[in-house]
Amino acid sequence: MKKAIITFLILTLAIFAGNNAVQADYETELTIAVGEVGAEYDTVVAAAEQYMAENPEIYIEVIDSPAESGERLSYFLTHFERESPEVDIYQIDVIWPGILEEHLVDLYEFGAEEHLEGHFDFIIDNNTTPDGELIAMPWFIDAGMLYYRADLLEKYELDVPETWSELEEKARIIMEGEREDNPDFEGFVWQGAPYEGLTTNVLEWFASNDGGNFVSEDREVTVLNDNNLYMLEKVIGWMGDITPLAVTGFIEEDSRAVWHEGNAAFMRNWPYAYGMTEESEAIEDFGVTGIPAGPRGESASALGGWHLGVSQYSENPEEAVEFAFFLAGAEIQKMRAIQASLPPTIEELYGDEEILAENPLFEEFLHIFETAVPRPSAQTAPYYEAASEAIFSEIHLALTGERDALTALENLEIELEEILQW
Ligand code: GLC
Repeated sequence: MKKAIITFLILTLAIFAGNNAVQADYETELTIAVGEVGAEYDTVVAAAEQYMAENPEIYIEVIDSPAESGERLSYFLTHFERESPEVDIYQIDVIWPGILEEHLVDLYEFGAEEHLEGHFDFIIDNNTTPDGELIAMPWFIDAGMLYYRADLLEKYELDVPETWSELEEKARIIMEGEREDNPDFEGFVWQGAPYEGLTTNVLEWFASNDGGNFVSEDREVTVLNDNNLYMLEKVIGWMGDITPLAVTGFIEEDSRAVWHEGNAAFMRNWPYAYGMTEESEAIEDFGVTGIPAGPRGESASALGGWHLGVSQYSENPEEAVEFAFFLAGAEIQKMRAIQASLPPTIEELYGDEEILAENPLFEEFLHIFETAVPRPSAQTAPYYEAASEAIFSEIHLALTGERDALTALENLEIELEEILQW
């Protein structure tokens, strides 16, 4: 018994000593909140481990946040509204600068200038406030892409579709053929849940038929026109035909799950799905191309992407900013391009042999990233969230059959006009 007590005491002391030793090893603890879609989270953990090994005075905790952009924003706002120092660095959606600028430090005050060299100007501009403050380091670009089953196009002797009508026709042919053996097979999956992702899908339908991106640069609402009506009616026609009705509940990973199982001919998604698709056992061969064009327009991808902002309420802003610079630098962007197919914001990396060997997509589609169409977040700031909610709610009602296309567009036109008056 005595021996047991002594052993217990020794063990307890050892544990305390051990903990102290770990704690004494670092002076500053940083917390970063990031996304967890595809492989992105793991790459941040790997980068944090590397940084801690190189900077033993820093300890970094990586926490994940909701996968859906709007939920993530609400979660982050609960921290910002309390002026909470709990999270130092946030992964910021490309559409948020106008919403979050008051909560994020001006990175120029911490020497950002020298870290921006080589990053695309259009992302730097996106992350710069009207007063010239840089509130997020460019981290990765997103643009909507069309994924296609190259093996099935070959099987049915079809070419890669370039227009929405071709996509519709080919999806139907493949779906009808495949359903003979696989009743779960779908033609075309995308993101149709009432959330931010639906706004990006709608933007692509409209912009690719020369219907504008909801609000013009001079703040005119551009929703109600024949080109958009044509596209919305076309999409409504897909529902329950080439597109499963369940798509009205799909976010990115739901559509990717159907695709990954080999149960869809086409999928609209962001580049992160590329690396994940290569791991699919159900897909023999696939390809990626630009978003199809409407009869009156040209292919148009929605601009997405995520950047790194440092909280005004951080207790260690200098250290937090340094870590953000490290994450946004070429070394980590390259690692993330290779391991998580996240398109870099540093132009030179589009010519990097190792990245291209892993992900040939990047070279071929650089022009798509550079010409992707932004959502009207700058025009509607600081009310973009409300504008997007108006878009995805009205269109969702049209997709579920609760509104006809014309009424949805009329309502949306009025709602956006109202928001612009706020
Ligand atoms: C992707 C994009 C982001 C967008 C979101 C919508 O994560 O990068 O900009 O808001 O999808 O679901």
